[in-house]
Amino acid sequence: MIFRLLLLTVLVVHPIQIPFIDQAILTAKSTTNMTIFANQTCQQCLCRFYSGYIALSCFSNDTCELFYSYPRVYIVHGLSNARLYFLQDIFPNASECCMSNSYVFQQLDAAPTTRVNVSRPRCLVIDNYGYLVTVSETTNDIIRLYPANLSIVNQPTSPVFPNDPSSISYYDEAYYIGFDGYILILHTSNFSVLANITTASLFGTRDIGLLYSGQIMVVLSTGNNYILFFNRTDNVSRQYTYLNQQLVTYSSPHGFWYINDTYFYVTSWATNSIYSYSATNNITIWSENLFINATSNTSSWGGNHLTIDDCGRYWFALGANGIQIFDQQRNLLKIESGIASYIFHILLTDDVMYISDLVYNQIVRLDLNDTCA
Ligand SMILES: *[C@@H]1O[C@H](CO)[C@@H](O)[C@H](O)[C@H]1NC(C)=O
Ligand SMILES: *[C@@H]1O[C@H](CO)[C@@H](O)[C@H](O)[C@H]1NC(C)=O
Ligand SMILES: *[C@@H]1O[C@H](CO)[C@@H](O)[C@H](O)[C@H]1NC(C)=O
Ligand SMILES: *[C@@H]1O[C@H](CO)[C@@H](O)[C@H](O)[C@H]1NC(C)=O
Ligand SMILES: *[C@@H]1O[C@H](CO)[C@@H](O)[C@H](O)[C@H]1NC(C)=O
Ligand SMILES: *[C@@H]1O[C@H](CO)[C@@H](O)[C@H](O)[C@H]1NC(C)=O
Ligand SMILES: *[C@@H]1O[C@H](CO)[C@@H](O)[C@H](O)[C@H]1NC(C)=O
Ligand SMILES: *[C@@H]1O[C@H](CO)[C@@H](O)[C@H](O)[C@H]1NC(C)=O
Ligand SMILES: *[C@@H]1O[C@H](CO)[C@@H](O)[C@H](O)[C@H]1NC(C)=O
Ligand SMILES: *[C@@H]1O[C@H](CO)[C@@H](O)[C@H](O)[C@H]1NC(C)=O
Ligand SMILES: *[C@@H]1O[C@H](CO)[C@@H](O)[C@H](O)[C@H]1NC(C)=O
Ligand SMILES: *[C@@H]1O[C@H](CO)[C@@H](O)[C@H](O)[C@H]1NC(C)=O
Repeated sequence: MIFRLLLLTVLVVHPIQIPFIDQAILTAKSTTNMTIFANQTCQQCLCRFYSGYIALSCFSNDTCELFYSYPRVYIVHGLSNARLYFLQDIFPNASECCMSNSYVFQQLDAAPTTRVNVSRPRCLVIDNYGYLVTVSETTNDIIRLYPANLSIVNQPTSPVFPNDPSSISYYDEAYYIGFDGYILILHTSNFSVLANITTASLFGTRDIGLLYSGQIMVVLSTGNNYILFFNRTDNVSRQYTYLNQQLVTYSSPHGFWYINDTYFYVTSWATNSIYSYSATNNITIWSENLFINATSNTSSWGGNHLTIDDCGRYWFALGANGIQIFDQQRNLLKIESGIASYIFHILLTDDVMYISDLVYNQIVRLDLNDTCA
C-alpha cells in the first residue's frame, strides 16, 4: 500500500534517530520471535524498548508489538493511526513466499519425488553436517543420508544398538535417541555416547524435545502416558537429571512440536489428536488443552507427529490415514494420502518435504517449487 521508502520518516528521540513508516504495521506470516505489550503508548514503548528489538509496530489502541528479528515471511499492512519503527536502522529483506493452500496442495501431487528404501525408518532430523538422519527399527542403527539425493553416508559407521530405537532428535551436535527404557545421547561426529539417561517412570520413549537452549529435556513416555522433564546438570556435559513428570489425560503421547520455551504440542498416537501445553508460571506444571481431534476422518490409530510450516499450517502425520493438513483456525484443509502408505514423520525445509514411511520402508523427498503462488 504505502511503503515506498520515500515515506520513511525519521523520528528523533534524542539523541537517537529512528526511521519509521506512518500508517503501517508489520505482520509476521512465518514463525517469529516477538512480544506484545498492551496498555503502553507508543512513546512508552520507544523509550523502554528502543534497544534489544529490531522493529516496533504501534497500534492506535496503545498496543505495541516488538520483534526481536525480522520474520522470514511477512507483510507490511497499511493501518490508520499505526506506525512501524525500524529501531536499529536495519530494514528487512524482501519477504519470502508463503505458498497458498491451493498451490502447495497442487505441488504435493506434482512435485518431483526421490525415494530410498530404509527399513522401518522413524523420525527425521537434519544435523550439523546437513545430513538427513533417521533411526531404523529393523537394523537398530542411525542412518544418515545426503538430503539432495538420499544416498547413504557410509562413514563413520553407526553403532548397532542392542534394542530397537524408537525416536531421534537433534540438538547442538548431538543425537538424542529414544529406546524403550532409556535415552542415549551421541555425538554427531563419531557417535560416541555422551550420556545414557533413564528414570523409573520412563516406559516407551517417543519424541524428545528440548527447551531453554537444551537445558530442559521433555520426554514423551508413551507406555504410561507421562510427559517427563529432565534438567541438564551443567552446560558442558550432556547429563540430565530427572526433574518432574506430568500425567496426560489421553493415551499414547507420541509426537512433540516446539513453539517456544513455554508452549508446545504433543500428539496422541492412540486418539489421533493434538494437545497444546502452556507453562504455568512454574515450568514444571503445564496446562493441557485439546487442540485438534482428527478422529472423525481416520480409520486406524496413528497420530504420529505434528509439523507446522512457515505459513502456520498444521501437518498431522497420521500413519495409514495419510497427512491431514489444518489451518491456524484448525479447519481441515486437505487429507493427503497419495505420497506414502504410512506417514510416520514429516520434515519441512524451505522448499523440500521429507517423509518417513514406516510400513513401506521408505524415505521420500518432494521438491516443492517454492514460488509466491
Ligand atoms: C489497561 O488499562 C485499563 C485502564 O487503566 C485497565 O482497565 C485494563 O485492565 C488494562 N489492561 C491490561 C491488559 O493491562
Ligand atoms: C489493539 O488493536 C489490535 C489491532 O486492531 C488488536 O489485534 C488488539 O487485540 C488490540 N488490543 C487491545 C488491548 O484492544
Ligand atoms: C538479509 O539476508 C542476508 C542474506 O541471507 C542476511 O545475512 C541478513 O541477515 C538478512 N537481513 C535481515 C535484516 O534479516
Ligand atoms: C525398494 O523396495 C521395494 C519394495 O520392497 C523393491 O521393490 C525395490 O526393488 C527396492 N529398491 C531398491 C533400490 O532396493
Ligand atoms: C549424493 O550427493 C552427495 C553429496 O552431494 C554426493 O557426494 C554423492 O556422490 C551423491 N550420490 C549419488 C549416488 O549421486
Ligand atoms: C544404557 O542404560 C540401559 C539401562 O538403563 C542399558 O540397558 C543400556 O545397555 C545402556 N546403554 C549404553 C550404551 O550404555
Ligand atoms: C537445573 O540444573 C541447573 C544446573 O545446571 C540448576 O542451576 C537449576 O536450578 C536446575 N533447575 C531446576 C528447575 O532444578
Ligand atoms: C509462546 O507461544 C504461545 C502460543 O503461540 C504464545 O501465546 C506465547 O505468547 C509465546 N510465549 C513467548 C514467551 O513467546
Ligand atoms: C527471542 O530472542 C531473544 C533475543 O535474541 C532471546 O533472548 C529469547 O530467548 C528469544 N525467545 C524465543 C521464544 O525464542
Ligand atoms: C515448581 O512446582 C513444584 C511442584 O509443585 C515444586 O516442587 C517446585 O519447587 C516449584 N519450583 C519453583 C521454581 O517454583
Ligand atoms: C474426538 O472425536 C471423537 C469422534 O469424533 C470422539 O468420539 C472423541 O470423544 C473426541 N475426543 C475428545 C478428547 O474429545
Ligand atoms: C516453478 O514455478 C515457476 C513459476 O510458476 C515456473 O515458471 C517454473 O517452470 C516452475 N518450475 C518447475 C520445475 O516446475
